[in-house]
Amino acid sequence: MRIGVLLRIGFSVVLFIVLSACVTSCSPERGIEQAGKTNVSLGVNQETVTLRIYENELARTPPMGWNSWNAFHGDIDEQKIRGIADAMVESGMHDAGYTYLVIDDGWMADKRNSEGKLVADPNKFPSGIKALSDYIHSKGLKFGLYQDRGHLTCMRLPGSFGYEQVDMDTFAAWGVDYIKLDSCYAEINGRKSSDDFGVFKECIIKTGRPMILSMANYTDPSWAWGGQEIGHLWRTSFDVSPQMGSVYYCADTSAGDIVIHPAFNGLWQFAGPGHWNDPDMLQVGNLKTDIENKAHFSLWCILAAPLMAGNDLRNMSETVRNILTAEELIKVNQDPRGIQGYKVHDDGDHEIYNKPLWDGTTAVLLLNKGARKADITVTWDKIGLRGRQMVRDLWQGKNLGYYSGSFTAEDLPRHGHIFLIVGSKGKPLPVPEPVPLEKYVVTQKGKTCLSDLYYIWRYGNAPKYDKTFEGKPIVIDGTPYERGFGCKATSKIMFKLNGYAERFKAVVGLDPSYQGNEAVNFRVRNEDPIGPDSLLYDSGKMTKDTPAKVIDIDVRGIDCLILAIEGKQALGNWADAQVIVSN
Ligand code: GLA
Repeated sequence: MRIGVLLRIGFSVVLFIVLSACVTSCSPERGIEQAGKTNVSLGVNQETVTLRIYENELARTPPMGWNSWNAFHGDIDEQKIRGIADAMVESGMHDAGYTYLVIDDGWMADKRNSEGKLVADPNKFPSGIKALSDYIHSKGLKFGLYQDRGHLTCMRLPGSFGYEQVDMDTFAAWGVDYIKLDSCYAEINGRKSSDDFGVFKECIIKTGRPMILSMANYTDPSWAWGGQEIGHLWRTSFDVSPQMGSVYYCADTSAGDIVIHPAFNGLWQFAGPGHWNDPDMLQVGNLKTDIENKAHFSLWCILAAPLMAGNDLRNMSETVRNILTAEELIKVNQDPRGIQGYKVHDDGDHEIYNKPLWDGTTAVLLLNKGARKADITVTWDKIGLRGRQMVRDLWQGKNLGYYSGSFTAEDLPRHGHIFLIVGSKGKPLPVPEPVPLEKYVVTQKGKTCLSDLYYIWRYGNAPKYDKTFEGKPIVIDGTPYERGFGCKATSKIMFKLNGYAERFKAVVGLDPSYQGNEAVNFRVRNEDPIGPDSLLYDSGKMTKDTPAKVIDIDVRGIDCLILAIEGKQALGNWADAQVIVSN
């Protein structure tokens, strides 16, 4: 294995191990201090200091705040936002930890000013953004603002492409503390997502003002290409909507196998202090019932997800207020150890999540997603414990007593759940081994069959390994292949080459079992699932009658390779998919 070749992806694992090691010997406060130490000395310039703060001090725990999008979409103005700032303080949200008030899309005028700078929409924000920022700061809150790395925002207002430094300087001058950076139209920027977000990181550092960078990259995999080193949180899902189906889908992008190979058991190993998986903002208060609001909040808390409230704080009910400010749940979310909770059981309807905490106890969520009432039992062996253990119910705020070997939550209705702390204070409990790099990164000289690696991201149908999508041996034009992938369009799968491989080879064609008339493209892409600049190979339209095509392309320097079958439903195979590293 080439030394240093795994540096980038290894960073998060190393950080994880360092932090895990630290938890056995440090108090929470010391741990945070050490992890976030800023070594300021004479002669160190402002940019260096800002870089250190940016990388080591921001978002040590998942950011908490409020964002305008889920409550108002583009229908925002300065009166509303001031009202929200007031409510955030008066309702106790701020005291509970909600710090960042973020204005999402729809705040800006549709044209830049004569100096090329962004200006606020004069009708919605006649006093300007700086005045609003000052007001928000005067309340003791921090201020966040939305932009987009394309030439337009998702609402087709002026985006930042080509104005990166100008805009970050403007944001800094306005006192912005948190940037939500969206990705609409960015596929035509001519830069990979990692490079594009990297440009903004550099621009932020240059401003000298520490600002959290929230990367809104839909489902695209920031965790795969080193997002940990660029921003502080990244989206894992499409937009959350106020329905439980959407809430569960978003949670499962982070905790399930919707976007990553099932062997990872979700994205937990990529999260930690300073870099978080973001299954999107909260819809608590916008859902139909309190049991739904609670289930949503509990999931986000155990998943160490950013807690960005998205309801109208000026009119929330007492029950919703109590959910959003539930101190013991927030404490789990904000636990300084920064472990993202992971599933220890999922049978489709019933789920159990575990989140080992700093103090030696562990948070456990038992959730019934099914339509029927159910009992759910967690046995201590699933959460690293044995014998008699103290159990505390966090929603009730009371100790339930000692339980031997297991705990059963009885008669949970749909969305019903119990959120527990189990165990007693002491040495932190172990977490599972993260998936080792060699299982998902190209590390060997010679030939690596890609079906020997776990994919690090997928979109669309999950591929079958070494079989057709229907589970049969792969045969193309009469030739059998032992290795490769069987897919059903649309199918995009990403492999981590880490800049190590030189050639990618495969034989592609539609599966003989597919007798439809659809014509699909087999495309190989560099990092980004869409956009002209990411395209490395295109088979052209292939139907069931098109003979197999042989791919043999240069992939030197490529970190993340995507194999895409772009179509609607045809079955296709990547036979013998492999990469080569010269000996
Ligand atoms: C995208 C984002 C949303 C929101 C809107 C604004 O859809 O994912 O969170 O910011 O844009 O237009």
